[in-house]
Amino acid sequence: MNTLLSESASPQPGSGGNVSPGQALTIRGGRPLTGRVEVKGAKNLATKAMVAALLGGTESVLRDVPDISDVHVVRSLLEVHGVTVEDDGEGVLRLDPSGAVSAHFEEIDAHAGASRIPILFCGPLLHLLGQAFIPDLGGCRIGDRPIDFHLDALRAFGATVEKLPSGIRLSAPAEGLTGADIELPYPSVGATEQVLLTAVRAKGTTELRNAAIEPEIMDLIAVLQKMGAIISYEPNRVIFIEGVDSLRGYDHRCIFDRNEAASWACAALATDGDIFVGGAKQQEMLTFLNVFRKAGGDFDIAEDGIRFRRGGPLKPVVVETDVHPGFMTDWQQPLIVALTQAEGTSIVHETVYENRLGFTRALVQMGADIVVHPEGIASADRRVPRRELEQAAVINGPTPLHGADVVVPDLRGGYSYVIAALTAEGTSTVRNVDIIRRGYEKFLDKLTDVGADFDVVG
Ligand code: EPZ
Repeated sequence: MNTLLSESASPQPGSGGNVSPGQALTIRGGRPLTGRVEVKGAKNLATKAMVAALLGGTESVLRDVPDISDVHVVRSLLEVHGVTVEDDGEGVLRLDPSGAVSAHFEEIDAHAGASRIPILFCGPLLHLLGQAFIPDLGGCRIGDRPIDFHLDALRAFGATVEKLPSGIRLSAPAEGLTGADIELPYPSVGATEQVLLTAVRAKGTTELRNAAIEPEIMDLIAVLQKMGAIISYEPNRVIFIEGVDSLRGYDHRCIFDRNEAASWACAALATDGDIFVGGAKQQEMLTFLNVFRKAGGDFDIAEDGIRFRRGGPLKPVVVETDVHPGFMTDWQQPLIVALTQAEGTSIVHETVYENRLGFTRALVQMGADIVVHPEGIASADRRVPRRELEQAAVINGPTPLHGADVVVPDLRGGYSYVIAALTAEGTSTVRNVDIIRRGYEKFLDKLTDVGADFDVVG
């Protein structure tokens, strides 16, 4: 029986809910996870759409917003800038930017939390107030997470960027920002969002080449178009934005969270379970579903979601992470847990971040056979152009996992540890689980709904 602090009470913004910092789970593993979970709106869209509300002259309504701490952080940041945010408790936010004002550094820094979203406030604040201050960013420690593409883009729009010890101060020229011709060195999701949120109100046209085209990016484009923006794109990652003089509020339902859906699918694969993920849609998960099937998984597409389970013995796969429409880097950590149970040798080549395989050390502690190659794997038939940062994990299976005492390193790694503990025979302690609340709504309730046996401790 799970002793569970109720997560139904809506948590205070930024508090991470009832799972207080440093909280731990005692998990008794070794049995399949079976049941139904619902995924709400995507963490990596909802937070950006909230920032976009700053650009509107009228109130915006955002629906299917997940109750996660990354949303609470952005809500707090908007409120310190004078935006009023109302939450109906059912996932609908009303955001009114009419009272937007500059905020003081201390307030911004106090609310920025472990998030990377503050960098996306630059464009909207420069248009609104002529200036912006962004504290040094947080976010998962999966690489050094530079923001050079963002700052170069903002300079191209005419902004002055001043690096301070505590963050960056930006200012717009008196005549305002102007459209720019920008080519990204890499199809960065964040930098593409930076350009979109700045170009829509800049004078003239912006051409963005080598842009990210993830479904969450396309959903942000839909939000901006609803506000009055004029945005078009070509199949070769080129996006054109015609700046307009004003934008209005939007009413938008967030795209579903592909990363959460893939996480629960991998949980079913790893524990030989059977999980129905309500809200999951096939189109945005095509690449994941191919790999899931190759690994021995089986899935049924329904009108209201996708059923995930094993279709037989797990099989080894070779996967490279990539930008969309490739295999998302956010999917590799939960997949690796399942691959520890596959019969043979798998390779997961991480090509997006330079340190996203460190979490495998704890899986080895639990009995997995995983070797991380820091330079990746030189292979002739690779699809992804080689970058200076690469890592590859070689996973030999199947290896029985046993319980261990582990500390959550980052969001997806943390979810993966919980699934590994549920896959393992015996009892594990997983510490610092509040990080998981950054991206998984009502995580403990959902674990209970799929039959996980755990207690919240500490
Ligand atoms: C977004 O991060 C997501 N986060 C990440 O999800 C996701 O893994 C990532 O996109 C890739 O899909 C949010 O949307 C909040 P990037 P972002 O800019 O925008 C380098 C999760 O688990 N780069 O596409 O920070 C960077 O170092 C999180 O939900 C620069 O070099 O990712 C990385 O190697 C984890 N300079 C690569 O580009 C820059 O200025 C991709 O980063 C920006 C990025």
